[in-house]
Amino acid sequence: MPLAPGTVRDSIVEFLSAIGKDASIDEILTAVSSQLGHTPPSSIRSYLTLNTPKIFERTGRGRYKLNGNGHKSAIEICRSKPGSDHRTVGKGIIYHADSFAWMANQPENSIEAIVTDPPYGLIEFNDTETAKLRAGKGGVWRIPPSFDGHQRAPLPRFTVLNDSDRKNLHRFFLRFGVQLTRILVPGANVLVASNPLLSHIVAGALTEGGLELRGYISRQVMTMRGGDRPKNAHEEFDGVSVMPRSQWEPWVMLRKLPEGRIQDNLRKYRTGGFRRVSAERPFGDLILSHPTPSAERKLAPHPSLKPQAFMRQLTRAVLPLGKGKILDPFMGAGSTIAAANAVDYESVGVEIDRKYFDIACEAIPLLGDLHTKTPD
Ligand SMILES: C[S@@+](CC[C@H](N)C(=O)[O-])C[C@H]1O[C@@H](n2cnc3c(N)ncnc32)[C@H](O)[C@@H]1O
Repeated sequence: MPLAPGTVRDSIVEFLSAIGKDASIDEILTAVSSQLGHTPPSSIRSYLTLNTPKIFERTGRGRYKLNGNGHKSAIEICRSKPGSDHRTVGKGIIYHADSFAWMANQPENSIEAIVTDPPYGLIEFNDTETAKLRAGKGGVWRIPPSFDGHQRAPLPRFTVLNDSDRKNLHRFFLRFGVQLTRILVPGANVLVASNPLLSHIVAGALTEGGLELRGYISRQVMTMRGGDRPKNAHEEFDGVSVMPRSQWEPWVMLRKLPEGRIQDNLRKYRTGGFRRVSAERPFGDLILSHPTPSAERKLAPHPSLKPQAFMRQLTRAVLPLGKGKILDPFMGAGSTIAAANAVDYESVGVEIDRKYFDIACEAIPLLGDLHTKTPD
């Protein structure tokens, strides 16, 4: 089917906006072809020449970047994408939308904190992989063997990511960082769920996007990743694990730079620190946790659902004065929004998948009302 007029141009604009710098024609061609399918190099060249200097600037031989008008069109392209339905659930508002389009429509300095668990690998929640997961057909999803009578939740296989996936991941988080830096108030905390294989890419790209890295929060939890013996040589090397059985989940911790002294930032924006657990006890960066209980997974059937006991500790801590709005731009079934309701904070969630959005509408009030126990 022929592409609608302007599709190739918009794809070039989106790519250059995502990387935030100039790129060669070859790099642009690879990015556009991975989004739209095979695109002839001549077509890329003619779009670039036709729109220079209107939206592109030539920075060297065969290299281009966006100029001021180009950045404006990147935001316009994002705004024109569908972003529709929204609901109120307790003190939270949730949107069925693409969060990049949603964020492009938000005013500057309008959000006080981010707590989110983004799509890693970037492919595990695309239409094809979601369909495979729902059909129980695997794909990037690994269904761990059930043992001791318990059915295990599917896990995405991040070890299958190749160089190009990792570059896309970097591009995705750079774009995310640039958008966040615009909509967050100074001093706002950003907590991003990650895993030990990819957290360095996430931290690097978000920092390039304008945020400041402040460290990591370690969720101590036994995951199903690692611990396996060498494939097809289990018996020969029965004393070897290819990688350790993972027992923690890193959450990348960043912030938008505060304005001046922390006390001034706290007064002006209500951000610039973490809320203490009690007057005697500061919030700590090691949190004992457990896998998401099956009762919660039944209420909110999402493959990456985070447990309420843990999410409530995080959400409570990210607003130092308990005031402001927490955004989860990759809401899934709504564990962040439910946790924010449980600690009586305002929140906003955005989810692109209609089915998960519908699950979140029903699950958030139920998860938010659950009594949970925190491991000692
Ligand atoms: C790792 S899951 C989050 C699960 C969540 N922590 C929970 O407890 O339910 C990531 C979610 O982001 C959604 N997603 C992916 N790309 C998105 C986008 N551009 N805008 C909004 N949501 C997106 C996926 O559909 C998926 O539900």
